[in-house]
Amino acid sequence: MQKNILVLPGDGIGPEITEQAVRVLKAVTQGTDLNLNFIEGVIGGAAYEAAGHPFPEVTKTAALAADAVLLGAVGGPQYDNLDRPLRPERGLLGIRAAMGLFANLRPAILYPQLADSSSLKPEVVAGLDILIVRELTGGVYFGQPRGIRETEIHGQTLREGFNTMHYNEMEIERIGRVAFDAAMKRNKKVCSVDKANVLETSELWREVMIRVSRDYPEVELTHMYVDNAAMQLVRWPKQFDVMVTENLFGDILSDQASMLTGSIGMLPSASLNDKGQGLYEPSHGSAPDIAGQGIANPLATILSAAMLLRYSFGRGDLAARIESAVSTVLDQGLRTADICTPQDRKVSTIEMGDAVVAALN
Ligand code: IPM
Ligand code: MG
Repeated sequence: MQKNILVLPGDGIGPEITEQAVRVLKAVTQGTDLNLNFIEGVIGGAAYEAAGHPFPEVTKTAALAADAVLLGAVGGPQYDNLDRPLRPERGLLGIRAAMGLFANLRPAILYPQLADSSSLKPEVVAGLDILIVRELTGGVYFGQPRGIRETEIHGQTLREGFNTMHYNEMEIERIGRVAFDAAMKRNKKVCSVDKANVLETSELWREVMIRVSRDYPEVELTHMYVDNAAMQLVRWPKQFDVMVTENLFGDILSDQASMLTGSIGMLPSASLNDKGQGLYEPSHGSAPDIAGQGIANPLATILSAAMLLRYSFGRGDLAARIESAVSTVLDQGLRTADICTPQDRKVSTIEMGDAVVAALN
């Protein structure tokens, strides 16, 4: 079976970490009937430089034609003064919208070997395994109208910025189903996070989640306001199994949850549409401060490659081999700088890739 993967390294540490993930994908599929064909493209600041736009038409065409997309990261301080529509982040939002990637899966799993890297006490995080299901193509990120305009207030002309938060029932229902389906394969608990005491979008969100839950009688549904959820995540994170939430809340809570596991450098993500296509990227950003130094942690991207095999190509077996190889290298005490304690052996990005490839066999 031949599959085409579009690789979009992006900016900052993106090229270094995707290179290692591609190596791992090649190694794990070698000798199997899955034949991967890698096509490279541009996105973000790199695309702005190459083509004058963070999500150029060539990249869009390639993304829609690919069986899956592997992305590094976008953004960097050199682009901060560009007009908003040309900024690297718009590349990421553009590809999410163009591919209709409404379901963002962000697992937060604590590798026991890293329990001491978490800022929380080991007993609070030991065994942690949460899945955050973030709605990715709606809410305030994409709501219209938006902009900055001049307005008269008390006879004075002031500029005001505005964004709009929207959700329709279809958008809420389909992300709800993703969360409940995921929970059926896990511990059968869904916590829906909203702000229903204040927002109408959340009132509808809650109503639709309750409706969806009727199709999943085995799954326990609870609701939590987002402020409380943020607090509960650091108080007692193991109470959660699947958390489902809207775009902006999910952006914030997934960064928060990632730190429970020691380093955001460990966390993969999958963004899926309803056609079985997916985009896979680390949960972290482009880390411009350490770019080009060969010290970035490639494990989140390597684990994203594992998610790619599982969700886009139905190869949970190969995904599990990558995940267990990652666990093996951690057992060996190999750590990139972000997760390194004095007892560990510090390795470079490439050495970490080498070690994972070696551990596959
Ligand atoms: C993320 C990032 C993006 C987001 C940015 C870079 C647009 O923070 O993937 O979580 O806010 O969705
Ligand atoms: Mg984010």
